[in-house]
Amino acid sequence: MKGVILAGGTGSRLHPLTKITNKHLLPVYDRPMIYYPIEALVAAEVRDILIVTGGNHAGEFLKLLGNGKEFGLKHINYTYQEGAGGIAEALGLAEHFAAGEKVVVFLGDNIIERNIIQAVDSFGTQERGAKILLKEVENPKEYGVAELADDRILNIEEKPQDPKSNLAVIGMYMYGNDVFDVVKTLKPSRRGELEITDVNNHYIAAGIMTYEILDGWWGDAGESIDELLRVSNLVAQTGANHT
Ligand code: G1P
Repeated sequence: MKGVILAGGTGSRLHPLTKITNKHLLPVYDRPMIYYPIEALVAAEVRDILIVTGGNHAGEFLKLLGNGKEFGLKHINYTYQEGAGGIAEALGLAEHFAAGEKVVVFLGDNIIERNIIQAVDSFGTQERGAKILLKEVENPKEYGVAELADDRILNIEEKPQDPKSNLAVIGMYMYGNDVFDVVKTLKPSRRGELEITDVNNHYIAAGIMTYEILDGWWGDAGESIDELLRVSNLVAQTGANHT
């Protein structure tokens, strides 16, 4: 399985911190934000990793991460997203890299307490489709929210006014290689982006989406300044990506 970390975007919710740098280079406790998803993938034994970035600071990722020696890697792959076409568009840029394999996609601002190797291994044996992870949150309106019935996901709504549950879809998705065909069928949403939620709803409608509830805390450090502070404090207290 290949790993894809999405680290583009404008980071507008963290202005003015992101006026002169990429959100994923900001500190979260003692490390730059982008370190955590890389560590999470390596801990899950996904070692072939592509970083998709964009904007004016793409070169800084190479300076910071190089070939990934700090993470025990020999090599890291990079690619560049022009403009802000959304998470699903960024994922589409990974098609060549994925080279027919399944992919684990990590949003570069998502940080988790525990190792997700079990979910990744279980997706490794899943015949087809996709798998997502859900986590109970206090503010579901800020996320993609799953509606469940009889242990099945019925639908995901992106940032709903009236959430059907308090289960957020965390920014870590596992897909079969057909995801690149799914991305090609998407139409831009009202905010002009290709939405990852539309990709996930495609798999739900096809009846081939599985899910797990995430163990341990989860944070979307790019969601707001308060969330960045909350996640930084959690990392300081317990560390991230451990078993
Ligand atoms: C994205 C997804 C959303 C998901 C969230 C997790 O939102 O669109 O479904 O719940 O990541 O971090 P964003 O934070 O890019 O607005």
